[in-house]
This record gives sequence, structure tokens and C-alpha cells, in this order.
Amino acid sequence: MSEILAFLKTIEDEAKTAIENASDKAVLDSVIYSYLGRKGKLAEISRGLGKLDPQSRPQVGARLNELKKRLTDLAEKKTGILTSTLTSADTFDYTLPGKRAFVGRRHPLMQTVDRIVNIFRGMGFSVATGPDIDTEFNNFDALNTPEDHPARDLSDTFYIRKGILLRPHTSTVQIRTMQAQKPPVRIISPGRCYRSDTPDASHSPVFYQCEGLFVDEHVTFGDLKGVIIQFAKDMFGPRIKVRFRPHFFPFTEPSAEYDFSCMICGGNGCRVCKNSGWLEISGAGMVDPEVFRAVGYDPDRVTGFAFGMGVDRITMLRYRIGDIRLLYENDVRFLRQF
Ligand code: PHE
Repeated sequence: MSEILAFLKTIEDEAKTAIENASDKAVLDSVIYSYLGRKGKLAEISRGLGKLDPQSRPQVGARLNELKKRLTDLAEKKTGILTSTLTSADTFDYTLPGKRAFVGRRHPLMQTVDRIVNIFRGMGFSVATGPDIDTEFNNFDALNTPEDHPARDLSDTFYIRKGILLRPHTSTVQIRTMQAQKPPVRIISPGRCYRSDTPDASHSPVFYQCEGLFVDEHVTFGDLKGVIIQFAKDMFGPRIKVRFRPHFFPFTEPSAEYDFSCMICGGNGCRVCKNSGWLEISGAGMVDPEVFRAVGYDPDRVTGFAFGMGVDRITMLRYRIGDIRLLYENDVRFLRQF
């Protein structure tokens, strides 16, 4: 009798160790099978009970049942651990901070483009597009730019091959649009531009412009001013001021550069506006009759205005970004802020 109890104890220790050491579910299943299965060790011992003398049978039987229950409980617990998704349930530290999942969003430049498009849509403009790679004709000739103009120089513009280049401005889309449709025209065209500039805090060889073009009968410089001023107010609020300075562009006459009052310091002067109180946005002017002739419009019948707009500049002012390069490095630590 004590022999058989000692034997059961050995079986118990053996089974416990095997269950505890089971490294995966398959190993555990085979351990369960060999001890608790229908043809397992415990079943075999049960079948031998009949051979025992009748007095010791109840005690051994009870011990056997208890052993079966213990091993079954242990095996169940172990199954739970092995199939749980929290692999080491005992060592998992619930007090550690969780990992934050970040949601993707539009790039700050694209958010600004969306806003610009919205504002101009409200004034009746539609969006036109053109390719980043375009002809020298669309970039310069049709825009009344002389053969020897410095902008055509290899040191300023990226050429793909003779006559084909990465556009240095979105003014190409003025030409493409007027070639494709008759007046009236009222479009804006946001897009990428390329210039052979060395990158620094305010220069990037890739940047964004938004072109504007309005052609109809009796369009005046006053209309141009009205549209730019309305844009400035919608974009930066009613207190903004706009200033036009005389300038020269081959494709507009008269031409101007235009500035917005510095929204960082309210026009009082700060580091961003270099104490001038003004920030340069881009150029504008009345479409030169030569440009109308190049696209087959009659300069005696129609007039128009065109403007450019530095999208990077506007984005930097809108979000107070101090370095244009941040917009092109795609560092998620930066992009997550918008
Ligand atoms: N294309 C000019 C530039 O890139 C801006 C401009 C557009 C000026 C339209 C006048 C009219 O600087």
C-alpha cells in the first residue's frame, strides 16, 4: 500500500515537471495525453485497482482521483498561459505607459495649398495644373523672356536636355491654360517648382508656388489689388495690410512685388521680417500684350492680371516654421505637429 502511494507520488512529480516545462501547446498536449489520456498512465493505474486488496482500494482510489484533478487543473492553467496573447502574463508590467498610435495627416504644405484653393474658389477661380517638366518655350519664350535673360541660365534652372527643363515657376500654366481655352480665364495653379539654389533656412531647390491668372475684357490693376487683399485677409485675418512695390517681370507690365504686413509682430518689426514690418510674398502684374500674342489672344480685346505666390512662405508664416528645409526632410517628429 505505501509502495503504491509512493509510486503515485513519483508519477505526480514527473507529470508536474513535464507540464511546467512544456514549451508550447503541442508539447503540453502530448504530456496531457500520456498522463491523463484514455490510454495514459493514470488510466492504466485505475484499471489495476481491481488487483489490490479490498481494504486499500478506497484510499488509493481517492488519492488517484485527487491526483487526476490536480494534474488536470495544472494542465489547464498551463494551456491558458501558452495560448494567451500576453506571452509572459506573470512578468507584464501594467504600469508602463502605453505606445501612442499616430494618425497620418496632410503635409503642412498641402494643408496650405488646400486653404489657398478654398479661398480662391470662393472668388470664382478654378484650379488648373501643368507638369513639373515643361518646355523652354512655355517657361520663357511664350512668357516674353529674352534669350539672354539670367533665369534661363544653367546655373539657375535645371535642364533635362536642350529645350526641356524642370519649371522654375508655375507661370508655365498661364501659357498652357490660355493655349487650351478662350477668354475669359480665371484660374489658380498650385504646384512644385525647381531652382538651382543652395539650401538654407529660406531657400530650397524644390519649392511650391501658386500661380493666378485672370483674363477678361476690362480687367484692371485695381482688380488685381482687390483679389490679393481679399486673399490676405481670408488667409491671415482682417488686420493684415498689403503693399505693392514697383518691379519688373518680362511677362507683366506694369509689374509689382507684393508684401504682407508681418503677422508675427503685427508690423512693428521682428526677427522674421528683419525689422521691416513687411514680408515679401511674390510678384504680380498686368499680363504683357506679348504674352497674349504668343497664345493667340487679342491684346486689343482682353486684359488680365497674373500673380505668383510663395506657398512655402505662407506655410512658414501660418505655422511659424523657421526653416524651409523642414518642409522637405519629412522628419515625422516635425510632421506630427500639424
Ligand atoms: N513667376 C514669377 C516668379 O516666379 C512670379 C510672377 C507670377 C510674377 C505672375 C508676375 C506674374 O517670381
